[in-house]
Parts: sequence; C-alpha cells; structure tokens
Amino acid sequence: MTVESAMPEYSPGLAGVPAGRSKISYVDGQAGALEYRGIHIAELAVHSTFMETSFLLLFDRLPTPDEVSRFSNDIILHRRIKYKITDLIKCLPEQGHPMDALQAAVAALGMFYPAREVLDPEVQYWSIVRLIAKVPTIVAAYYRLRRGDEQIQPRDDLDHASNFLYMLTEQVPDPLIAKVLDTCLILHAEHTMNASTFSGMVTASTLADPYTVVASAIGALKGPLHGGATQETVEMLEEIGSVEHVRPYINQRLAAKQKLMGFGHRVYKVKDPRAIILQKLTQQLFAHYGRSLLYNVAEEVEHVGEELLASKGIHANVEFYSGVLYKTLGLDEDFFTCIFAMARVSGWLAHWLEQIKDNKLFRPDQIYEGQHGRVYVPIHRRLGGL
Ligand code: ACO
Repeated sequence: MTVESAMPEYSPGLAGVPAGRSKISYVDGQAGALEYRGIHIAELAVHSTFMETSFLLLFDRLPTPDEVSRFSNDIILHRRIKYKITDLIKCLPEQGHPMDALQAAVAALGMFYPAREVLDPEVQYWSIVRLIAKVPTIVAAYYRLRRGDEQIQPRDDLDHASNFLYMLTEQVPDPLIAKVLDTCLILHAEHTMNASTFSGMVTASTLADPYTVVASAIGALKGPLHGGATQETVEMLEEIGSVEHVRPYINQRLAAKQKLMGFGHRVYKVKDPRAIILQKLTQQLFAHYGRSLLYNVAEEVEHVGEELLASKGIHANVEFYSGVLYKTLGLDEDFFTCIFAMARVSGWLAHWLEQIKDNKLFRPDQIYEGQHGRVYVPIHRRLGGL
C-alpha cells in the first residue's frame, strides 16, 4: 500500500471535511437556516443586541440583565486605545487598505496586553473585552486619521453601534440607523467553520495569544472570496450603474467566466438567510431616507442572477445587501469589511475559547507532487535557466 492510498481522499478547499467539533453555530445550507448556540438568527436579529449575542456566542447562554450590563460596561470602559496605537495608525499610508491597518493595530495591541497564559480565565475574559471594545475604535481612528481629521474619543454613554458611528462622524446617530447597524453586527458575528474562523483556529491551536489569533483571522477575512466581497459587490453595482445595464453586464461577466460578487456560498444552496434579513433592513432605511439607485440595481442583479444561476444552487449571500446598506449609511467602501471584522471578532473569540479548551495542534497532511533525489548543482556549474 502506498502512503497516498492510505490517506483519506483529498478535498480541495477542505470542502465537506469536518475540521473540528463545535457547539457555537449551526448552518443548514439546504433549508437556509443559521443558529447561534441553537437560537435562530432571525430571532436574534429582531430581539437581541450585539452585546447580548456576543455573550451568547462566547459563554453559551443568554445573559441575565445584570450579566449583559456588566459585560457591556466592561467593554465600554475598554474602548480607548493607547496613544501609541493611534501614533502607529497615523504612520500608515492613507491609501492603504483599512483591513491592513486593522490587522497591524490588533497585532500591536497584543504587545501592550500580554496574554500568553491563554488558559487563565482572567486573561481570556479581559482579552475578549479588550478586543471587542477596541476594534471599532481602531477602525474609526483610521477612518478619520487618513482623511487628516482628528480621532474622536469614544463616548461612554453610547451603545456599541451608536458609539462607533459617533467616532466616525462626531454626531450621535439616529436610533434607527444605530439599530440597523447593531443588527448587521449580529448577522455577521458568527458563521461556523468559515475561512477566517479556520485561520484563527489554526493560529489558536499553536497556543498563540488571542490578539494574534484575531489578527490572523482579519487577514483571511480581507480576501474578495470572503469578507472582501462586500466592497467588491458595491464596486460591481456601481460599475453597472443603471438597471438597464444589468442584464448585458451579467451576461458578459458570466461569459468571461467571472463570478458575480455577493453570490454563491460553499454551504448555502438557497438564498442566505442573512441576505434576506439584510434586504429587509435596507428597505426599512429607505422608508425613512429614500430608495437609492444602487439598491434598484442590486434588486435587478439579484433577479437576473437568480434566473441564470439558481439552477446551480447559487444565490445572493450575506455580502450582497450588506454593502448596499453600508453605502446607504454613508460609509467608505473600503471600510465595509472592517465592519464585518468588528462583528466577527465575537465569533472568532468564541472559537478561540472552544479550541484551546480541548486543543490539538492543527497540522494536516499534504499530497506531495514534487520530485525526489534531485542532484544539487553548484551555482558556478549552472548554465542557462533552470
Ligand atoms: N458567480 C458565478 N458563478 C459562480 C459564483 C458566482 N458568484 N460562485 C460560484 N460559481 C460557480 C463557479 O464558477 C463554478 O462553476 P463551474 O462548476 O461551472 O466551474 C461553481 O459555481 C463552483 O464554484 P466554486 O468557486 O468552486 O465554489 P465554492 O464553493 O468554492 O464557492 C465562493 C464559494 C468562493 C463563495 C464562490 O461562490 C464565490 O467566489 N462567490 C463570489 C465571492 C463572494 O461573494 N464571496 C462571499 C462569500 S460569503 C462570505 O464569505 C461571508
């Protein structure tokens, strides 16, 4: 028997291969259902807050009123970032990608708050608090500083979403907008074994500190096949420009074997349940602020996309309407994925806790396809190319 035949069958992208056991979230890709700790996402979107949902994900139960208020207060009290982190952000190029700034600043946070004792519950709790609290402050700081504006300090009297919007604009947002953003954070907080979570878990399995875990997950989230799709979807919709251009654009794009951004999912073979809720939220915003051309284009793209791709199980995913929604809120497109990261930090940390509780270093195998026994030729005897 060869070594290769003794191996389990290779699955590109590990599609369908379980990489762990988890009690955090559950997806039914055929039914279009998503649960956090057994509670349907649609219920959380209506009744919960991002703080409460984060507690649920992290500690496996809905908090009592006292517990959620203590957790929220701890987070409020840790929102500020050290001036050296602000200085670091100031030194980054204005034209750089905000996700890179976020990744660099989160990695640097770990140097200020050493958390090598990853199994210590105190270290775990305060790392979680600091990361959930400081990620929005970092994002808002880069948003303002790269424009040459002063950083705005967080306000302790504002909830998570309102405070974030305040740190961007120095204005307390309309409660409807804050509620919509908070719901977006709930919807993006967790999603089983996705690429960024897996990336974070691989890092966690080395017993690296949680700041490093989150920094590695941020790196994976940035890519256009994952969280970066939010930005690319809006750029695609803007490129289309009008409802009339939708069909010829999609035909041309698919003929050129290019993917429709915001469509398709490894697990969902029906419309992503989060996209359904996000679409409704966008419509709620329009009832107050007027409908946008971008949304009209998005609706038509979904209509034509369904017609052409539904038979392959390809439908709108969570990124399809989230970009339109963030655009309606007036945010810069390259920041959309940072909002995703602000939400997913809770999910990443829940997986971090689960991983280190019963840790086994991730060290998968590979199928070697290279050569053996090649002769080393000294450099002076190498003529021409390789
Ligand atoms: N548009 C057109 N065709 C698509 C799309 C799409 N968005 N997605 C998949 N397909 C087609 C592929 O071309 C391929 O067709 P073929 O079999 O004829 O060659 C087939 O469906 C399978 O595609 P894969 O990319 O191999 O499937 P996978 O399960 O890896 O895809 C993925 C998942 C990466 C999300 C893919 O659908 C995609 O690239 N979508 C666009 C990017 C995007 O929106 N990403 C966000 C995902 S949600 C999230 O990460 C939070």
